Amino acid sequence: MPFDVPRRKTIHLRRGLHFAATMAPVLMSDLALSIRGVKKRFGDHVVLDGADLDVERGQTCVVLGQSGSGKTVLLKILIGLLPADEGVVEIDGEPVIHGDDARLAELRKKLGILFQAGALFDSLSVRDNIAFPLRERTKLSEKEIAQKVERALSLVRLAGHGHKFPGELSGGMQKRAAFARAVVLEPKFLLLDEPTAGLDPTTTELITDELVAVKTTLGSTTLAITYNLQSAFRMADTIALLHQGRIVAHGPPNTFKRDPHPAVQRFLKDWNEREDAAAAAPAQRVTSAPGP
Ligand SMILES: Nc1ncnc2c1ncn2[C@@H]1O[C@H](COP(=O)(O)OP(=O)(O)OP(=O)(O)O)[C@@H](O)[C@H]1O
Ligand SMILES: [Mg+2]
Repeated sequence: MPFDVPRRKTIHLRRGLHFAATMAPVLMSDLALSIRGVKKRFGDHVVLDGADLDVERGQTCVVLGQSGSGKTVLLKILIGLLPADEGVVEIDGEPVIHGDDARLAELRKKLGILFQAGALFDSLSVRDNIAFPLRERTKLSEKEIAQKVERALSLVRLAGHGHKFPGELSGGMQKRAAFARAVVLEPKFLLLDEPTAGLDPTTTELITDELVAVKTTLGSTTLAITYNLQSAFRMADTIALLHQGRIVAHGPPNTFKRDPHPAVQRFLKDWNEREDAAAAAPAQRVTSAPGP
């Protein structure tokens, strides 16, 4: 963690206002993503109630939470798709301000985003979907783009399916294509909403391993939302739990596992019980074929 380099110190006020001033060397951590005091409600429904989460550069943080706990809302606020009612979010030291479209467009060039629903363009083939960010944001030749796209397709075991349209793929295949599109630019920041949900165990493992590989080779900072504890423990440097609008525990996997917060222990217990039940009744377990 760099401690000694003189750098801009940014002082934040509510709703993203900030002042910058050159400060003498100060003790600062190297935060890549920062979420501070974020509150969000829809009508009377309080979804986020002062969520705080920091992710250091090059680290993978996995956010766990029950369905409906606000994980996707938190991610949308982080990338400026939704406004927070209160609080400040930063990516790479830059405040993310909802509505500042020009700045958000610049910021998003550094991000590889996988939305929960995949969000592929229906009118483009899988190959053109994956090529899309390369064409939009790089000056690579069509030949170079084609090579990268083919590599990304094989990575997610979709080689031979590039000519198809999203509507012709299974849900799991769409997810894998969307993952390929999120990583094809080798982004500095990867923000993944349920990268393995709905996938069979083999593909889940494959995508989890790819996430670890991307992090190792690119040094990307990753925020991944998942319900899958096994893949969380496999990929995470830190694990956080979102519960009742706040991050109630956050730490390295082994520390997280022992966190005494009742919500953490309940989450672990529920997961283990489900896994035990699934192992005890293999014939009833619903699995999809491990890929085409
Ligand atoms: N645009 C919106 N308008 C109103 N309510 C919303 C909106 N977006 C989300 N919500 C509500 O906020 C709550 C949290 O939603 P969110 O999608 O963040 O949950 P989640 O933790 O991602 O759940 P899951 O694991 O099922 O994806 C839900 O009750 C949802 O209905
Ligand atoms: Mg969600």
